[in-house]
Amino acid sequence: MPAYPLYLAPMEDVTDPAFRLLCKRFGADRVYTEFVNADALVRDVASTTRKLRISDEERPVAIQIYGKDPVSMAEAARIVEQSKPDFIDINFGCPVKKVAGKGAGAGLLRDVPKMLEITKAVVDAVHTPVTAKTRLGWNDEQKIIVELAESLQDCGIRELAIHGRTRAQMYTGDADWTLIGEVKNNPRMHIPIIGNGDITSPERAKECFDRYGVDAIMVGRATFGCPWIFEDIKYYLTTGALLSPRPMSWCVDILKEHVNRSIEWIGDEHKGIIHSRRHFANSPVFKGLYDFKQTRIALLRADTKEDVFSIMDEIVRKWG
Ligand SMILES: Cc1cc2nc3c(=O)[nH]c(=O)nc-3n(C[C@H](O)[C@H](O)[C@H](O)COP(=O)(O)O)c2cc1C
Repeated sequence: MPAYPLYLAPMEDVTDPAFRLLCKRFGADRVYTEFVNADALVRDVASTTRKLRISDEERPVAIQIYGKDPVSMAEAARIVEQSKPDFIDINFGCPVKKVAGKGAGAGLLRDVPKMLEITKAVVDAVHTPVTAKTRLGWNDEQKIIVELAESLQDCGIRELAIHGRTRAQMYTGDADWTLIGEVKNNPRMHIPIIGNGDITSPERAKECFDRYGVDAIMVGRATFGCPWIFEDIKYYLTTGALLSPRPMSWCVDILKEHVNRSIEWIGDEHKGIIHSRRHFANSPVFKGLYDFKQTRIALLRADTKEDVFSIMDEIVRKWG
């Protein structure tokens, strides 16, 4: 393992094989699939089992599952194991209503005995190392992570990823890393702790490694339209210097490659473009360009590959 491992966070509708492989190319030390619904896996729903497709090129790779029932989670873990991931990760952090509101994901932060029952059931069901990802707690009044981390460790998980927000925060406010640091520095903890939340720059990544002592950092939203962020962070962590800014034409070539790979993965040009829009909308490549508003609107509305690519070419000509 490198001195400062950097992982691509699991993200629904984002971390498909196309994106995982790109992030891997730029140095992600581990990638995670989107979360996979345990009940749908057990029912063998085709759109869900498709999410289990992983390749040797992207290893080490974790497949993440979520659900609220220990029996179906254990069964799902056994199904997942057949795909031979390096890790099976349990999602105890998803805050959205359709998941947490139904008692799965972060909903289990309100029912710790059930969370531990699920964890034990999954750990016992498979030989693959099991990891978990969660948040600080349900809300400000109930930040239970320090104690919870010990209990999850006692259930046999091999690593714990912590997003420094509560469920109530959803994605608002700033991630609070102090409790992540407290978990890491708890002498009872011996499994690796992965810190997550608001890592958007090489400098912030270094600060979090240095200040909180985490074993690895997981990067989520800052990878949108920027899979090379792993290389930027790595370079800074190993040399103490920032890589010089990349030419816009180089970045646009990578974004185009991502569009091509997304279309290939989804098997439909229009759907592949829609799927890629999140990356265009959030890419640092298109941030802060003077008088860019109309072009941005056109880029986000374009619905053929030809149109998207020609707008990108125009952007490079005009602003590159
Ligand atoms: C679009 C989107 C989808 C996400 N899907 C998942 C998921 O499937 N499983 C999970 O554990 N976390 C999921 N997350 C949470 C991220 O993994 C991560 O914890 C969160 O974005 C905070 O990290 P960041 O500040 O680096 O983005 C998702 C986040 C976003 C923005």
